[in-house]
Parts: sequence; structure tokens; C-alpha cells
Amino acid sequence: MSELHLARWRERIDAALALALPDPTASPQRLHAAMRHAVLLGGKRMRPLLVHAAGTLFDAAPDALDAPAVAIELIHAYSLVHDDLPAMDDDELRRGQPTVHVAFDEATAILAGDALQSLAFAVLADTPVSDAVRIELLRTLANAAGSAGMCGGQALDLAATGAGTLAVAELERLHALKTGALIRAAVRMGALCGGAASDDLARLDRYADALGLAFQVRDDILDVEGDSATLGKTAGKDAAQDKATFPALLGIDASRRRLAQLVDAMDDALAPFGSRAEALAALGRHAVDRQH
Ligand code: IPE
Ligand code: IPE
Ligand code: MG
Ligand code: MG
Ligand code: MG
Repeated sequence: MSELHLARWRERIDAALALALPDPTASPQRLHAAMRHAVLLGGKRMRPLLVHAAGTLFDAAPDALDAPAVAIELIHAYSLVHDDLPAMDDDELRRGQPTVHVAFDEATAILAGDALQSLAFAVLADTPVSDAVRIELLRTLANAAGSAGMCGGQALDLAATGAGTLAVAELERLHALKTGALIRAAVRMGALCGGAASDDLARLDRYADALGLAFQVRDDILDVEGDSATLGKTAGKDAAQDKATFPALLGIDASRRRLAQLVDAMDDALAPFGSRAEALAALGRHAVDRQH
């Protein structure tokens, strides 16, 4: 049943993203084309799917979930455009396509990322929920995207690159910020749209924190074991750039054991919701089993 939900949500998300993005024929066309390139060409839509899965758990209206689903994917897409820039990971392939700075140019990629971030908050400000919930959505996304979240994690990632070994706890914090923060925000925003109570939000935070870490550990493993054609991004880059990753610090076997622990943590956190959390559980399994 949940696979069916996921396919239907994915279609809904893609349609809402296409609608939210600026008209490619309107000026400035090059910027608008770069924004659409960054968002519409592929991507697993994991974060917006989490918005729908968490919202549905609390019977949120699907119409209320569209805006946070779009907003979180726009922030994620912006983070990838900037992550791929020469000043950061210097990547040329993303989602099986040339990265935005390769397909366009560096200045356009910087501006496309900036504009995607602004658009995310403009979309979120129109969420059809009460004023109080809307303000909480805006606060949740802003905190998750900023220096206490994704940007902070990216700063720690860059500082750790080529700088020698981190302690495991430091690496987990880095991953929790650069990847976990947006995943936690996705789950929280869905739940907030359904009016979830604070004890349920706390349970979902535990699930999302395990998922966020698992998602990045799997990303690190795939960088070692995957091939570029399947990944849609260049494999082997982390070792080449001396990135702080789980496989580099602990090896593949210990990274896999950590993933198994995180699966247990997700199951424990979702247990009180029973079968109603089936879609969240399916997304959690996908994060650790995925091949790209
Ligand atoms: C890639 O995220 C960056 C990480 C945080 C690991 P995804 O693996 O979700 O990338 P897309 O959206 O499917 O391209
Ligand atoms: C990126 O982590 C996390 C972001 C916040 C964009 P990575 O640098 O490992 O992501 P990929 O492997 O390039 O997708
Ligand atoms: Mg990076
Ligand atoms: Mg990268
Ligand atoms: Mg990676």
C-alpha cells in the first residue's frame, strides 16, 4: 500500500514543483532555466515524500502539505547547486545531468541557489493553515537551513575536508547538521500541518534524527561502492577529496553496522504509531537500502 502512496505523492510533488518555479520564458530566462534545471531534472524527492508521509499520519489536508513539500525540496535543490560549486565539492554530474555551474556558469549557479532559497520561503508563506502553524513552519525551515542546520553542517564538512580524522561524535554531528536538519524539518513540517502534539513531535524527531544520519551514512557508502551511472553523480569523490565520511573513519563494515543500529532506532521511534506509520517506515528502509 505504501508504495502506491509514494508513487502518487511523487507525482503530486513534481507537479507542484513545476508550478511553483518561475516561468522559463519570463525574464531573466537564463536564471529561470537554471532554477528549473536544478529542481526538475531527477531527484528522489525523499524530503517532500517525508512531508506527505508525516502529514498523513496526522490526517493533514493534502492541500496543506503541498507548500512545505515544495519548500523543502527547493531548499534541498539549492543546497545541491551550491554543494557542487568549484568552491565546495567541485562536481560536474548531478542527477545524471551536468551540474548547474557546468550547464550554465558559476555566477548563474550561485544566483539560482539564492533564488531557490527565497522561493522556498515565499511558497511556505502561502501554506493554507492557521497563522500560528504557518509561522511555525517558516521558523522550522529557516532554522534547519541556516547555520544551526544545513549551512552549519556544510561549513563543518568543508573545515574537516583534508584536515585529518574526526572523532565519531564530531562526524555524527556534522552529518546531523548537513543532512539531518532538513530531514528533521521535513518530518516536522508534515506533522505540524496535521496538528501533531508535542510528544508525537518528539517521537518523530527521534525517527528523523536516525533517518538523517542513516541517509548520509548510506550516501557515504554509495560514494565508495556505487558507480557514477547508477548514482547520477561522480562516484569515488569523497576519498579523492579526503572528505570526512563514515567509511573513511570506520571502514565499510562498521558503517553498515551503524546503519543497522539506525534502522532499529527508526523502528523503535515509530513503534507507538503502529501501521499508521507504514509510509514513514518504508521511506526509512529505502534510505538504507537504496542504490542511488
Ligand atoms: C544528496 O541527497 C545529498 C545528501 C544530503 C546526501 P539525495 O540523495 O536526496 O539527492 P537527490 O535529491 O535524490 O538528487
Ligand atoms: C551534501 O553532502 C549535503 C548537502 C547539504 C548538500 P554530499 O556532498 O555528500 O552530497 P553529494 O554526495 O554531493 O550528493
Ligand atoms: Mg558536500
Ligand atoms: Mg557533494
Ligand atoms: Mg556524498
